[in-house]
Amino acid sequence: MKKITILLLTIFILGCQTNQKTIQPKTPETGPLGESAMVSSAHPLATKVGVEILKNGGNAVDAAIAVQFALAVVFPRAGNIGGGGFALYRMNDGEFGSLDFREKAPAGSGRDMYLDENGDIIPNLSTRGHLAAGVPGSVDGMFQLHERFGSKPMADLIQPAINLAYFGYVLTEDAAYQLNQKSEDLIAVNGEDFFLINEGGWQAGDSIRYTELASTLTQIRDRGRDGFYDGIVADQIAKEMQRGGGLISKEDLLNYKAKWRDPIQGTYRNHKIISMPPPSSGGVAVIQLLQGAEAYNIGSMGHNTKETLHIKTELERRVYADRATHLGDPDFYDVPLQMLLDEKYNKDRFSTIKKNEKTDSQEIKEGAVDVIESVETTHFSVVDSEGNAVAITTTLNSFFGCKVYVRGAGFFLNNEMDDFSSKPGVPNQFGLVGGEANAIVPEKRMLSSMTPTMVEKDGKLKMVVGTPGGSTIITSVFQVIMNVIDHGMSMQDAVNAKRIHSQWLPDRILIEKDGVDQSIIEELEGMRHVIEFRNSMGRMDCILVREDGKLEGGADYTRGDNYAEGF
Ligand code: GLY
Repeated sequence: MKKITILLLTIFILGCQTNQKTIQPKTPETGPLGESAMVSSAHPLATKVGVEILKNGGNAVDAAIAVQFALAVVFPRAGNIGGGGFALYRMNDGEFGSLDFREKAPAGSGRDMYLDENGDIIPNLSTRGHLAAGVPGSVDGMFQLHERFGSKPMADLIQPAINLAYFGYVLTEDAAYQLNQKSEDLIAVNGEDFFLINEGGWQAGDSIRYTELASTLTQIRDRGRDGFYDGIVADQIAKEMQRGGGLISKEDLLNYKAKWRDPIQGTYRNHKIISMPPPSSGGVAVIQLLQGAEAYNIGSMGHNTKETLHIKTELERRVYADRATHLGDPDFYDVPLQMLLDEKYNKDRFSTIKKNEKTDSQEIKEGAVDVIESVETTHFSVVDSEGNAVAITTTLNSFFGCKVYVRGAGFFLNNEMDDFSSKPGVPNQFGLVGGEANAIVPEKRMLSSMTPTMVEKDGKLKMVVGTPGGSTIITSVFQVIMNVIDHGMSMQDAVNAKRIHSQWLPDRILIEKDGVDQSIIEELEGMRHVIEFRNSMGRMDCILVREDGKLEGGADYTRGDNYAEGF
Protein backbone atom coordinates (compact mmCIF):
# COMPACT_ATOMS: atom_id res chain seq x y z
CA MET A 1 0.00 0.00 0.00
CA LYS A 2 2.81 2.33 1.01
CA LYS A 3 4.59 1.54 -2.28
CA ILE A 4 1.46 2.35 -4.30
CA THR A 5 1.06 5.66 -2.48
CA ILE A 6 4.70 6.58 -3.23
CA LEU A 7 4.25 5.53 -6.88
CA LEU A 8 1.08 7.62 -7.24
CA LEU A 9 2.78 10.58 -5.58
CA THR A 10 5.77 10.27 -7.92
CA ILE A 11 3.49 10.10 -10.97
CA PHE A 12 1.61 13.16 -9.68
CA ILE A 13 4.84 15.16 -9.14
CA LEU A 14 6.24 14.16 -12.54
CA GLY A 15 2.90 15.07 -14.11
CA CYS A 16 3.04 18.51 -12.53
CA GLN A 17 6.56 18.98 -13.87
CA THR A 18 5.57 17.97 -17.38
CA ASN A 19 2.70 20.43 -17.34
CA GLN A 20 4.89 23.16 -15.96
CA LYS A 21 4.18 26.19 -18.13
CA THR A 22 7.22 28.20 -17.22
CA ILE A 23 10.78 27.83 -16.09
CA GLN A 24 10.77 31.22 -14.40
CA PRO A 25 12.49 31.95 -11.06
CA LYS A 26 12.24 28.93 -8.81
CA THR A 27 13.50 30.42 -5.59
CA PRO A 28 12.08 33.78 -4.55
CA GLU A 29 14.90 36.23 -4.27
CA THR A 30 14.93 39.50 -2.38
CA GLY A 31 17.24 42.31 -3.39
CA PRO A 32 19.10 44.35 -0.78
CA LEU A 33 16.78 46.00 1.73
CA GLY A 34 17.06 49.52 3.11
CA GLU A 35 15.22 50.97 6.10
CA SER A 36 15.29 54.46 4.63
CA ALA A 37 17.27 54.93 1.40
CA MET A 38 18.43 53.01 -1.67
CA VAL A 39 20.53 53.50 -4.80
CA SER A 40 20.61 51.10 -7.75
CA SER A 41 22.95 51.69 -10.70
CA ALA A 42 25.02 50.02 -13.40
CA HIS A 43 28.21 49.93 -11.33
CA PRO A 44 28.96 49.23 -7.65
CA LEU A 45 31.35 52.21 -7.38
CA ALA A 46 28.72 54.63 -8.70
CA THR A 47 26.08 53.17 -6.37
CA LYS A 48 28.45 53.61 -3.42
CA VAL A 49 29.06 57.26 -4.37
CA GLY A 50 25.29 57.83 -4.26
CA VAL A 51 24.91 56.01 -0.94
CA GLU A 52 27.68 58.11 0.65
CA ILE A 53 25.98 61.34 -0.46
CA LEU A 54 22.72 60.13 1.08
CA LYS A 55 24.42 59.05 4.32
CA ASN A 56 25.98 62.52 4.56
CA GLY A 57 22.56 64.13 4.46
CA GLY A 58 22.22 64.74 0.72
CA ASN A 59 18.81 64.25 -0.87
CA ALA A 60 17.86 61.97 -3.78
CA VAL A 61 18.66 64.66 -6.36
CA ASP A 62 22.10 65.27 -4.83
CA ALA A 63 22.80 61.54 -4.91
CA ALA A 64 21.54 61.20 -8.49
CA ILE A 65 23.82 64.01 -9.69
CA ALA A 66 26.82 62.39 -7.98
CA VAL A 67 25.94 59.01 -9.53
CA GLN A 68 25.63 60.56 -13.02
CA PHE A 69 29.15 62.07 -12.78
CA ALA A 70 30.59 58.88 -11.24
CA LEU A 71 29.13 56.74 -14.04
CA ALA A 72 30.88 59.00 -16.58
CA VAL A 73 34.13 57.67 -15.06
CA VAL A 74 33.46 54.07 -14.05
CA PHE A 75 31.00 53.16 -16.82
CA PRO A 76 32.34 55.21 -19.75
CA ARG A 77 30.65 53.18 -22.45
CA ALA A 78 27.26 54.68 -21.48
CA GLY A 79 27.66 56.87 -18.39
CA ASN A 80 28.65 60.27 -19.68
CA ILE A 81 29.17 63.96 -19.75
CA GLY A 82 29.26 63.83 -23.58
CA GLY A 83 25.72 62.50 -24.02
CA GLY A 84 22.25 63.21 -22.72
CA GLY A 85 19.26 61.71 -20.96
CA PHE A 86 16.04 62.12 -19.04
CA ALA A 87 15.39 62.63 -15.32
CA LEU A 88 12.09 61.89 -13.63
CA TYR A 89 11.55 63.00 -10.02
CA ARG A 90 8.86 62.58 -7.42
CA MET A 91 9.15 64.48 -4.17
CA ASN A 92 7.76 63.13 -0.90
CA ASP A 93 4.84 65.59 -1.05
CA GLY A 94 3.70 63.95 -4.30
CA GLU A 95 5.02 66.68 -6.63
CA PHE A 96 6.56 65.17 -9.74
CA GLY A 97 8.16 66.35 -12.96
CA SER A 98 10.79 65.58 -15.54
CA LEU A 99 13.84 67.15 -17.09
CA ASP A 100 14.78 66.49 -20.71
CA PHE A 101 18.54 66.80 -21.18
CA ARG A 102 18.51 64.90 -24.48
CA GLU A 103 21.12 65.92 -27.06
CA LYS A 104 20.12 68.25 -29.90
CA ALA A 105 21.01 68.28 -33.58
CA PRO A 106 23.75 70.91 -34.17
CA ALA A 107 22.62 74.12 -35.89
CA GLY A 108 24.65 73.14 -38.95
CA SER A 109 22.88 69.78 -39.37
CA GLY A 110 20.40 69.06 -42.13
CA ARG A 111 17.79 66.52 -43.05
CA ASP A 112 19.96 64.85 -45.72
CA MET A 113 23.33 65.09 -44.01
CA TYR A 114 23.89 61.33 -44.04
CA LEU A 115 22.92 60.84 -47.71
CA ASP A 116 25.14 60.73 -50.79
CA GLU A 117 24.43 62.57 -54.07
CA ASN A 118 22.04 59.79 -55.10
CA GLY A 119 20.06 60.17 -51.91
CA ASP A 120 21.41 56.91 -50.47
CA ILE A 121 22.56 56.56 -46.88
CA ILE A 122 26.35 56.69 -46.48
CA PRO A 123 27.20 53.71 -44.24
CA ASN A 124 28.44 54.45 -40.69
CA LEU A 125 28.27 58.25 -41.05
CA SER A 126 25.54 58.60 -38.42
CA THR A 127 27.08 56.07 -36.05
CA ARG A 128 30.85 56.42 -35.98
CA GLY A 129 33.04 59.50 -35.97
CA HIS A 130 32.54 63.21 -35.43
CA LEU A 131 29.48 63.79 -37.61
CA ALA A 132 27.42 61.35 -35.51
CA ALA A 133 27.53 63.49 -32.36
CA GLY A 134 24.64 65.58 -31.10
CA VAL A 135 25.10 68.56 -28.76
CA PRO A 136 25.58 67.04 -25.28
CA GLY A 137 22.99 67.79 -22.60
CA SER A 138 24.10 65.89 -19.48
CA VAL A 139 26.09 68.64 -17.77
CA ASP A 140 23.39 71.29 -18.22
CA GLY A 141 20.84 68.72 -17.03
CA MET A 142 22.74 68.12 -13.80
CA PHE A 143 23.09 71.84 -13.13
CA GLN A 144 19.40 72.52 -13.76
CA LEU A 145 18.40 69.65 -11.45
CA HIS A 146 20.75 70.98 -8.80
CA GLU A 147 19.51 74.55 -9.09
CA ARG A 148 15.93 73.44 -8.45
CA PHE A 149 16.37 70.64 -5.89
CA GLY A 150 20.00 70.27 -4.78
CA SER A 151 20.85 70.66 -1.12
CA LYS A 152 24.61 70.00 -1.11
CA PRO A 153 27.15 72.18 -2.94
CA MET A 154 27.62 70.97 -6.52
CA ALA A 155 31.38 70.71 -5.88
CA ASP A 156 30.72 68.00 -3.27
CA LEU A 157 28.67 66.02 -5.81
CA ILE A 158 31.33 66.16 -8.54
CA GLN A 159 34.34 65.52 -6.30
CA PRO A 160 33.79 61.73 -5.94
CA ALA A 161 33.92 61.43 -9.74
CA ILE A 162 37.09 63.52 -9.88
CA ASN A 163 38.68 61.23 -7.29
CA LEU A 164 37.70 58.10 -9.22
CA ALA A 165 39.07 59.57 -12.46
CA TYR A 166 42.29 60.89 -10.96
CA PHE A 167 43.24 58.02 -8.64
CA GLY A 168 41.77 55.32 -10.87
CA TYR A 169 39.72 52.20 -10.23
CA VAL A 170 39.80 48.51 -11.01
CA LEU A 171 38.13 47.12 -14.13
CA THR A 172 35.45 44.46 -13.82
CA GLU A 173 35.47 41.51 -16.21
CA ASP A 174 32.60 43.04 -18.15
CA ALA A 175 34.34 46.45 -18.44
CA ALA A 176 37.60 44.84 -19.64
CA TYR A 177 35.70 42.73 -22.17
CA GLN A 178 33.84 45.72 -23.61
CA LEU A 179 37.03 47.78 -24.00
CA ASN A 180 38.72 44.86 -25.79
CA GLN A 181 35.66 44.24 -27.96
CA LYS A 182 35.59 47.82 -29.21
CA SER A 183 39.36 48.29 -29.62
CA GLU A 184 39.27 48.25 -33.44
CA ASP A 185 36.64 50.98 -33.57
CA LEU A 186 38.44 52.98 -30.90
CA ILE A 187 41.70 52.79 -32.88
CA ALA A 188 39.97 53.68 -36.16
CA VAL A 189 38.65 56.91 -34.67
CA ASN A 190 41.30 57.84 -32.09
CA GLY A 191 44.52 56.34 -33.52
CA GLU A 192 46.86 53.48 -32.60
CA ASP A 193 48.27 55.28 -29.58
CA PHE A 194 44.86 55.82 -27.95
CA PHE A 195 45.37 55.36 -24.21
CA LEU A 196 42.40 53.00 -23.80
CA ILE A 197 44.09 50.45 -26.07
CA ASN A 198 46.00 47.83 -24.16
CA GLU A 199 48.12 45.73 -26.52
CA GLY A 200 47.71 42.48 -24.64
CA GLY A 201 44.05 43.23 -23.96
CA TRP A 202 42.49 44.47 -20.72
CA GLN A 203 41.90 42.00 -17.88
CA ALA A 204 39.56 42.11 -14.91
CA GLY A 205 41.59 43.56 -12.04
CA ASP A 206 43.62 45.97 -14.21
CA SER A 207 43.36 49.51 -12.95
CA ILE A 208 42.71 52.52 -15.09
CA ARG A 209 43.05 56.29 -14.58
CA TYR A 210 41.34 59.09 -16.52
CA THR A 211 43.50 62.12 -15.72
CA GLU A 212 42.22 64.34 -18.55
CA LEU A 213 38.66 63.60 -17.50
CA ALA A 214 39.63 64.52 -13.93
CA SER A 215 40.75 67.96 -15.26
CA THR A 216 37.51 68.43 -17.20
CA LEU A 217 35.43 67.51 -14.16
CA THR A 218 37.52 69.95 -12.13
CA GLN A 219 36.66 72.69 -14.66
CA ILE A 220 32.98 71.84 -14.21
CA ARG A 221 33.33 71.74 -10.42
CA ASP A 222 35.04 75.14 -10.35
CA ARG A 223 33.26 77.01 -13.15
CA GLY A 224 29.84 75.37 -13.11
CA ARG A 225 27.97 74.90 -16.38
CA ASP A 226 30.46 77.17 -18.16
CA GLY A 227 33.21 74.73 -17.23
CA PHE A 228 31.78 72.52 -19.97
CA TYR A 229 29.83 74.76 -22.37
CA ASP A 230 32.25 77.72 -22.40
CA GLY A 231 36.01 78.03 -21.96
CA ILE A 232 38.72 75.37 -22.24
CA VAL A 233 36.46 72.31 -22.56
CA ALA A 234 34.18 73.95 -25.14
CA ASP A 235 37.31 74.92 -27.10
CA GLN A 236 38.52 71.34 -26.95
CA ILE A 237 35.19 70.04 -28.24
CA ALA A 238 35.09 72.61 -31.07
CA LYS A 239 38.70 71.76 -32.03
CA GLU A 240 37.89 68.05 -32.01
CA MET A 241 34.95 68.74 -34.33
CA GLN A 242 37.17 70.69 -36.74
CA ARG A 243 39.74 67.90 -36.71
CA GLY A 244 37.18 65.24 -37.67
CA GLY A 245 34.68 67.19 -39.77
CA GLY A 246 32.00 67.29 -37.06
CA LEU A 247 29.34 69.96 -36.66
CA ILE A 248 29.09 70.92 -32.99
CA SER A 249 30.14 74.57 -32.72
CA LYS A 250 30.93 76.70 -29.69
CA GLU A 251 27.63 78.44 -30.29
CA ASP A 252 25.76 75.12 -30.18
CA LEU A 253 27.37 74.43 -26.82
CA LEU A 254 26.56 77.88 -25.42
CA ASN A 255 22.97 77.61 -26.62
CA TYR A 256 22.23 74.16 -25.18
CA LYS A 257 19.46 74.19 -22.55
CA ALA A 258 17.80 71.21 -20.91
CA LYS A 259 14.02 71.47 -20.74
CA TRP A 260 11.50 70.81 -17.93
CA ARG A 261 8.55 68.81 -19.22
CA ASP A 262 5.28 67.53 -17.75
CA PRO A 263 5.46 63.75 -17.34
CA ILE A 264 2.99 61.37 -18.94
CA GLN A 265 0.46 59.91 -16.49
CA GLY A 266 -1.74 56.85 -16.61
CA THR A 267 -3.22 54.15 -14.40
CA TYR A 268 -2.85 50.40 -14.11
CA ARG A 269 -4.95 48.29 -11.73
CA ASN A 270 -5.38 51.10 -9.19
CA HIS A 271 -1.77 52.22 -9.50
CA LYS A 272 -0.71 55.56 -10.94
CA ILE A 273 2.03 55.43 -13.56
CA ILE A 274 4.28 58.46 -14.08
CA SER A 275 6.73 58.40 -16.98
CA MET A 276 8.79 60.35 -19.48
CA PRO A 277 7.00 62.40 -22.17
CA PRO A 278 8.26 63.01 -25.76
CA PRO A 279 10.90 63.25 -27.09
CA SER A 280 10.86 59.94 -25.27
CA SER A 281 8.46 57.47 -26.80
CA GLY A 282 8.73 55.41 -23.61
CA GLY A 283 6.12 56.92 -21.32
CA VAL A 284 3.40 57.01 -23.97
CA ALA A 285 4.12 53.45 -25.10
CA VAL A 286 4.28 51.96 -21.58
CA ILE A 287 0.94 53.53 -20.67
CA GLN A 288 -0.67 52.31 -23.91
CA LEU A 289 0.66 48.81 -23.19
CA LEU A 290 -0.61 48.82 -19.61
CA GLN A 291 -4.03 50.08 -20.75
CA GLY A 292 -4.15 47.10 -23.08
CA ALA A 293 -2.92 44.59 -20.47
CA GLU A 294 -5.55 45.72 -17.97
CA ALA A 295 -8.26 44.04 -20.04
CA TYR A 296 -6.69 40.64 -19.30
CA ASN A 297 -6.24 38.76 -16.04
CA ILE A 298 -2.48 38.62 -16.49
CA GLY A 299 -1.92 37.32 -12.95
CA SER A 300 -3.97 34.17 -13.44
CA MET A 301 -2.76 33.72 -17.02
CA GLY A 302 0.72 33.21 -15.48
CA HIS A 303 4.18 34.58 -16.11
CA ASN A 304 5.62 33.89 -19.58
CA THR A 305 2.92 31.36 -20.43
CA LYS A 306 1.71 30.97 -24.01
CA GLU A 307 -1.35 33.15 -23.30
CA THR A 308 0.62 35.97 -21.64
CA LEU A 309 3.37 35.97 -24.25
CA HIS A 310 0.83 36.11 -27.07
CA ILE A 311 -1.08 39.00 -25.51
CA LYS A 312 2.06 40.96 -24.65
CA THR A 313 3.34 40.55 -28.20
CA GLU A 314 0.07 41.55 -29.83
CA LEU A 315 -0.17 44.67 -27.64
CA GLU A 316 3.44 45.58 -28.40
CA ARG A 317 2.94 45.09 -32.14
CA ARG A 318 0.19 47.71 -32.17
CA VAL A 319 1.84 50.18 -29.79
CA TYR A 320 5.15 50.17 -31.69
CA ALA A 321 3.30 50.85 -34.93
CA ASP A 322 1.87 53.98 -33.28
CA ARG A 323 5.29 54.89 -31.94
CA ALA A 324 6.90 54.78 -35.36
CA THR A 325 4.24 56.90 -36.96
CA HIS A 326 3.37 59.50 -34.37
CA LEU A 327 6.34 60.21 -32.11
CA GLY A 328 9.09 62.79 -32.36
CA ASP A 329 10.33 65.93 -30.61
CA PRO A 330 7.17 67.82 -29.53
CA ASP A 331 8.97 71.15 -30.04
CA PHE A 332 9.10 70.37 -33.76
CA TYR A 333 6.33 67.87 -34.40
CA ASP A 334 2.72 67.82 -33.26
CA VAL A 335 2.63 64.56 -31.29
CA PRO A 336 -1.02 63.41 -30.88
CA LEU A 337 -0.60 62.63 -27.18
CA GLN A 338 -4.25 62.94 -26.24
CA MET A 339 -5.25 60.40 -28.87
CA LEU A 340 -2.49 57.92 -27.99
CA LEU A 341 -3.37 57.98 -24.29
CA ASP A 342 -7.13 57.88 -24.83
CA GLU A 343 -8.68 54.71 -23.39
CA LYS A 344 -11.27 54.40 -26.13
CA TYR A 345 -8.64 54.82 -28.84
CA ASN A 346 -6.53 52.06 -27.30
CA LYS A 347 -9.51 49.80 -26.71
CA ASP A 348 -10.37 50.02 -30.41
CA ARG A 349 -6.74 49.56 -31.35
CA PHE A 350 -6.46 46.35 -29.29
CA SER A 351 -9.89 44.99 -30.26
CA THR A 352 -8.37 43.28 -33.30
CA ILE A 353 -6.23 40.97 -31.13
CA LYS A 354 -7.16 37.34 -31.83
CA LYS A 355 -7.05 34.84 -28.99
CA ASN A 356 -5.34 32.00 -30.80
CA GLU A 357 -3.57 33.54 -33.74
CA LYS A 358 -1.02 36.23 -34.31
CA THR A 359 -1.91 39.28 -36.40
CA ASP A 360 0.60 39.92 -39.18
CA SER A 361 2.36 43.23 -38.60
CA GLN A 362 1.63 44.36 -42.17
CA GLU A 363 -2.07 44.07 -41.41
CA ILE A 364 -1.75 46.53 -38.53
CA LYS A 365 -0.45 49.34 -40.64
CA GLU A 366 0.84 49.62 -44.16
CA GLY A 367 4.43 50.53 -44.78
CA ALA A 368 7.75 49.62 -43.23
CA VAL A 369 8.16 52.37 -40.70
CA ASP A 370 9.98 51.83 -37.48
CA VAL A 371 12.61 53.38 -35.26
CA ILE A 372 15.05 51.62 -32.99
CA GLU A 373 18.01 52.79 -30.96
CA SER A 374 21.05 50.81 -30.04
CA VAL A 375 21.23 49.13 -26.70
CA GLU A 376 23.98 50.92 -24.80
CA THR A 377 22.40 53.29 -22.36
CA THR A 378 22.26 53.22 -18.58
CA HIS A 379 19.65 53.82 -15.90
CA PHE A 380 19.79 54.44 -12.16
CA SER A 381 17.22 54.89 -9.40
CA VAL A 382 17.50 56.67 -6.05
CA VAL A 383 15.15 57.01 -3.06
CA ASP A 384 16.23 59.07 -0.05
CA SER A 385 15.24 58.89 3.60
CA GLU A 386 12.60 61.61 3.13
CA GLY A 387 10.89 59.55 0.43
CA ASN A 388 12.05 61.70 -2.51
CA ALA A 389 12.80 59.67 -5.63
CA VAL A 390 14.79 60.20 -8.82
CA ALA A 391 15.00 57.99 -11.92
CA ILE A 392 17.58 58.90 -14.57
CA THR A 393 18.22 57.17 -17.88
CA THR A 394 21.25 58.52 -19.72
CA THR A 395 23.06 57.51 -22.88
CA LEU A 396 25.85 57.89 -25.43
CA ASN A 397 23.68 55.71 -27.74
CA SER A 398 26.16 53.04 -28.94
CA PHE A 399 28.94 51.59 -26.78
CA PHE A 400 31.33 54.55 -26.23
CA GLY A 401 29.03 56.67 -28.44
CA CYS A 402 30.59 57.78 -31.72
CA LYS A 403 33.96 56.54 -30.32
CA VAL A 404 35.44 60.06 -30.56
CA TYR A 405 37.37 60.77 -27.37
CA VAL A 406 37.68 64.55 -27.12
CA ARG A 407 41.43 65.22 -27.12
CA GLY A 408 42.65 66.87 -23.97
CA ALA A 409 39.19 66.75 -22.39
CA GLY A 410 39.10 62.99 -21.83
CA PHE A 411 35.54 61.87 -22.56
CA PHE A 412 33.53 60.15 -25.30
CA LEU A 413 30.96 61.95 -27.42
CA ASN A 414 27.58 60.42 -28.20
CA ASN A 415 26.38 59.16 -31.58
CA GLU A 416 22.81 60.16 -30.85
CA MET A 417 22.27 61.60 -34.36
CA ASP A 418 21.63 57.99 -35.41
CA ASP A 419 18.44 58.06 -33.31
CA PHE A 420 16.96 60.36 -35.95
CA SER A 421 15.73 58.71 -39.09
CA SER A 422 18.46 59.61 -41.59
CA LYS A 423 16.08 59.00 -44.45
CA PRO A 424 12.42 58.38 -43.73
CA GLY A 425 11.45 54.95 -45.00
CA VAL A 426 15.00 53.59 -45.36
CA PRO A 427 16.57 51.19 -42.84
CA ASN A 428 19.19 52.47 -40.39
CA GLN A 429 22.26 50.56 -39.17
CA PHE A 430 20.03 48.03 -37.44
CA GLY A 431 18.07 47.24 -40.58
CA LEU A 432 15.20 49.41 -39.42
CA VAL A 433 13.67 52.57 -40.78
CA GLY A 434 12.23 55.75 -39.34
CA GLY A 435 9.30 58.07 -39.87
CA GLU A 436 8.81 61.67 -40.89
CA ALA A 437 8.10 62.74 -37.28
CA ASN A 438 11.71 61.97 -36.45
CA ALA A 439 13.50 63.51 -39.45
CA ILE A 440 16.63 65.63 -38.78
CA VAL A 441 16.06 69.35 -38.19
CA PRO A 442 18.68 71.71 -36.69
CA GLU A 443 18.26 72.00 -32.89
CA LYS A 444 15.65 69.24 -32.80
CA ARG A 445 15.92 66.38 -30.29
CA MET A 446 16.03 62.84 -31.65
CA LEU A 447 13.34 60.35 -30.60
CA SER A 448 14.28 58.12 -27.68
CA SER A 449 12.99 55.00 -25.96
CA MET A 450 14.42 55.88 -22.56
CA THR A 451 11.66 55.32 -20.01
CA PRO A 452 12.43 56.38 -16.44
CA THR A 453 9.16 55.52 -14.68
CA MET A 454 7.56 55.64 -11.24
CA VAL A 455 4.54 53.83 -9.86
CA GLU A 456 2.33 55.17 -7.07
CA LYS A 457 -0.23 53.30 -4.99
CA ASP A 458 -2.77 55.15 -2.83
CA GLY A 459 -0.90 58.40 -3.32
CA LYS A 460 2.43 56.92 -2.15
CA LEU A 461 5.55 55.96 -4.06
CA LYS A 462 5.64 52.25 -4.85
CA MET A 463 8.30 51.70 -7.51
CA VAL A 464 11.11 53.41 -9.38
CA VAL A 465 11.92 51.63 -12.65
CA GLY A 466 14.19 51.95 -15.68
CA THR A 467 16.73 50.26 -17.91
CA PRO A 468 18.93 50.61 -21.01
CA GLY A 469 18.16 48.49 -24.06
CA GLY A 470 17.11 50.70 -27.00
CA SER A 471 13.62 49.81 -28.12
CA THR A 472 13.54 46.94 -25.57
CA ILE A 473 13.56 49.54 -22.78
CA ILE A 474 9.82 50.07 -23.15
CA THR A 475 8.90 46.39 -23.04
CA SER A 476 11.32 45.70 -20.15
CA VAL A 477 9.69 48.45 -18.07
CA PHE A 478 6.23 47.13 -19.03
CA GLN A 479 7.17 43.60 -17.93
CA VAL A 480 8.80 44.55 -14.64
CA ILE A 481 5.73 46.58 -13.63
CA MET A 482 3.50 43.57 -14.44
CA ASN A 483 5.88 41.19 -12.66
CA VAL A 484 5.35 43.11 -9.43
CA ILE A 485 1.69 44.10 -9.77
CA ASP A 486 0.26 41.02 -11.53
CA HIS A 487 2.64 38.24 -10.58
CA GLY A 488 3.42 39.42 -7.04
CA MET A 489 7.19 39.14 -7.48
CA SER A 490 9.78 40.77 -5.26
CA MET A 491 11.74 43.60 -6.92
CA GLN A 492 14.77 41.40 -7.48
CA ASP A 493 12.71 38.51 -8.90
CA ALA A 494 10.89 40.95 -11.17
CA VAL A 495 14.26 42.14 -12.51
CA ASN A 496 15.76 38.64 -12.76
CA ALA A 497 12.77 37.18 -14.63
CA LYS A 498 13.45 36.42 -18.28
CA ARG A 499 12.18 39.03 -20.74
CA ILE A 500 10.64 38.99 -24.15
CA HIS A 501 10.28 41.77 -26.70
CA SER A 502 8.24 42.52 -29.83
CA GLN A 503 8.01 45.78 -31.73
CA TRP A 504 5.71 45.52 -34.71
CA LEU A 505 8.56 45.35 -37.23
CA PRO A 506 10.48 43.15 -37.61
CA ASP A 507 7.54 40.77 -37.17
CA ARG A 508 9.01 38.47 -34.48
CA ILE A 509 9.26 37.83 -30.75
CA LEU A 510 12.68 38.10 -29.12
CA ILE A 511 13.01 35.84 -26.08
CA GLU A 512 15.92 35.69 -23.67
CA LYS A 513 17.68 32.31 -23.84
CA ASP A 514 16.27 29.69 -21.45
CA GLY A 515 13.47 32.06 -20.60
CA VAL A 516 10.53 30.08 -21.90
CA ASP A 517 9.77 26.37 -21.98
CA GLN A 518 10.31 24.68 -25.37
CA SER A 519 6.69 23.45 -25.37
CA ILE A 520 5.48 27.06 -25.12
CA ILE A 521 7.78 28.11 -27.97
CA GLU A 522 6.23 25.40 -30.12
CA GLU A 523 2.70 26.47 -29.19
CA LEU A 524 3.54 30.07 -30.11
CA GLU A 525 4.98 28.94 -33.43
CA GLY A 526 1.73 27.07 -33.94
CA MET A 527 0.01 30.46 -33.69
CA ARG A 528 2.39 31.64 -36.50
CA HIS A 529 4.64 33.69 -34.20
CA VAL A 530 8.29 33.88 -35.30
CA ILE A 531 10.66 33.39 -32.36
CA GLU A 532 14.28 34.52 -32.05
CA PHE A 533 16.52 34.19 -29.01
CA ARG A 534 18.74 36.79 -27.39
CA ASN A 535 21.34 36.34 -24.64
CA SER A 536 19.94 39.20 -22.61
CA MET A 537 17.80 42.30 -22.91
CA GLY A 538 18.06 45.35 -20.64
CA ARG A 539 19.95 45.97 -17.41
CA MET A 540 17.45 47.22 -14.92
CA ASP A 541 18.01 49.25 -11.78
CA CYS A 542 14.81 49.51 -9.78
CA ILE A 543 13.54 50.18 -6.27
CA LEU A 544 10.36 48.87 -4.61
CA VAL A 545 8.76 50.44 -1.57
CA ARG A 546 7.44 47.32 0.15
CA GLU A 547 4.26 47.15 2.20
CA ASP A 548 6.34 46.94 5.40
CA GLY A 549 7.90 50.29 4.43
CA LYS A 550 11.32 48.84 3.60
CA LEU A 551 12.98 49.67 0.31
CA GLU A 552 14.03 46.75 -1.87
CA GLY A 553 16.65 47.28 -4.55
CA GLY A 554 16.43 45.29 -7.76
CA ALA A 555 19.64 45.46 -9.81
CA ASP A 556 20.39 43.39 -12.89
CA TYR A 557 23.47 41.66 -11.45
CA THR A 558 22.85 38.52 -13.53
CA ARG A 559 22.98 40.52 -16.79
CA GLY A 560 25.61 43.15 -15.88
CA ASP A 561 27.62 44.68 -13.03
CA ASN A 562 24.49 46.39 -11.73
CA TYR A 563 24.40 46.89 -7.99
CA ALA A 564 21.89 48.15 -5.45
CA GLU A 565 22.66 49.20 -1.90
CA GLY A 566 20.51 50.69 0.82
CA PHE A 567 20.65 51.54 4.49
N1 GLY B 1 19.86 56.05 -27.61
C1 GLY B 1 18.92 55.27 -26.88
C2 GLY B 1 17.62 55.95 -26.68
O1 GLY B 1 17.60 57.16 -26.58
O2 GLY B 1 16.59 55.34 -26.60
